[in-house]
Amino acid sequence: MRARMLLVLLLALVAPAFLFPGCGAGGGTTNTDATDNAPADPNDDQPPGDPQLEQDFAQILQQNNINAVQPIPPAPQALVTLGRALFFDKILSGNRNISCSTCHEPTAGTGDALSVSIGEGGTGSAASRQLGTGVLIPRNAPPVFNRGLPSERRMFWDSRVSRAPNGNLNTPEPALNGGNPTAADIAAQLDTALAAQAMFPVTSREEMRGQAGENEIADAADNLEVWALLMERLVGTNNGSEGGIEEYRDLFQAAFPNVVDFDDFNFGHAARALGAYQATAFQALDSPFDRYLAGDTNAVSDDAKRGALLFYGRANCDACHEGPLMSDNQHHAIAVPQVGPGKDFPGEDTGRALVTGDQDDVYRFRTPSLRNVEITGPWMHDGAYATLENAIRHYDNPTQRLQNYNANQLAPLVRGLVDLDPGRNQARADALSGILRPAPNLNGQDIDLIAAFLRSLTDPVSTDLSSEVPPRVPSGLPVGD
Ligand code: HEC
Ligand code: HEC
Repeated sequence: MRARMLLVLLLALVAPAFLFPGCGAGGGTTNTDATDNAPADPNDDQPPGDPQLEQDFAQILQQNNINAVQPIPPAPQALVTLGRALFFDKILSGNRNISCSTCHEPTAGTGDALSVSIGEGGTGSAASRQLGTGVLIPRNAPPVFNRGLPSERRMFWDSRVSRAPNGNLNTPEPALNGGNPTAADIAAQLDTALAAQAMFPVTSREEMRGQAGENEIADAADNLEVWALLMERLVGTNNGSEGGIEEYRDLFQAAFPNVVDFDDFNFGHAARALGAYQATAFQALDSPFDRYLAGDTNAVSDDAKRGALLFYGRANCDACHEGPLMSDNQHHAIAVPQVGPGKDFPGEDTGRALVTGDQDDVYRFRTPSLRNVEITGPWMHDGAYATLENAIRHYDNPTQRLQNYNANQLAPLVRGLVDLDPGRNQARADALSGILRPAPNLNGQDIDLIAAFLRSLTDPVSTDLSSEVPPRVPSGLPVGD
């Protein structure tokens, strides 16, 4: 299976060179699914090979300090096994109707293929998920590829969860934060930003917790009680003698052999396991680009190399998408059209400013990594763009793309939820980062070449992660939606 996907991907990488020979301005493609789009071509087995291009590509990577990424050492298997069970188990949601995997589906690029997610109460999976009794979540579910790497210290589009190199946390829950947290036993388990992030989906009423009156988790007084009640569901009380699930007691014990009393487990242990699982299962460092960095100069097609020369050159993408994961982990305003229910109030999401309260941060979002970006659409913090080409085309003139946004690319559920308020759109345009003034001049061919480069960042394994989905979970609740 994997070998076949690999072949399809390699074909997809090579094919564009022959599909769009010399297509000029305005020749942007409108592919919605590049993996479906690799017809056999007699020239496919020609190795890439322009020597001057290869030299320029090697040089630009060297100038930008792009080196092979070190994979993380493997986490203990028992921790990963526990994390996998939790990731797919709806037991973590108040109403037992949604799991992490509902919105981070391994078979949908670890997202949900929706512009913005549908929370607990929704039905169905990925692009066919329906509202049911659920609501739209303000933002796009980001992929969780490579989020366990040590460089990844900030989580969420606005970085509201972060972990400093000294281990200090900064999160929406004050009890976890700083050098001397009041919930020190929980904070001690949160060994990565990814683990710290896993504390929070269960506290969101719309995502997983449910509304007051619906279940005991929803009725908890605060986050600490939410987490305590979830541990009661998992391992029970009175040292595991009352309630809980036997299989989870076994899994927790195997993952944390030093914890002798089940009452000493806290949700930090669960979050640590969730972090270890995601870091392991969704590490994606075997793309053609990675293979190139590891020394295989034939791994990347000529068009992808041409695209890279634009990305690191005239198009200046690397001013923000820098380093081997293509992110500076900083926040920038790039004038993305606002889609979905909004976060500040209906129609509005001011991004990072909601965390810092700083006027300079209005409309800023964290630069996402572009690893695997081909398979993580729709794109941007609110899924405003339905194709990778459209996401790239945004940059040829961000403020004009904002003003002339075409909502027809959106799914019907959110098509009517585009903020058209002229004052707010003017404010989004005014906030545009100075880095994008003037915007790079990109024609249709430039966009196709940049897309070819971005597709070289796809790890073929990530395109078929169906084997991650377990046949069953310890709670016995149905897996999948
Ligand atoms: C209802 C859908 C939904 C569920 C369920 C859900 N998530 Fe998410 N997840 C999202 C959305 C939407 C965001 C982005 C929110 C934001 O940035 O404000 C997100 C963000 C994240 C991030 C941050 C990624 C990044 O690059 O910043 C991680 C990691 C993550 N979720 C893991 C999990 C885990 C683990 C669970 C289960 C405990 C979970 N999610 C449950 C929708 C969901
Ligand atoms: C000024 C900094 C900056 C520059 C320059 C920049 N980007 Fe971005 N990029 C961002 C930020 C910030 C986001 C997320 C914005 C949002 O969702 O509101 C983003 C999002 C994206 C996305 C969507 C990723 C996803 O997972 O949804 C793609 C694709 C992308 N950029 C490609 C490019 C390309 C190609 C270029 C060069 C033409 C470029 N970017 C230049 C900061 C930048």
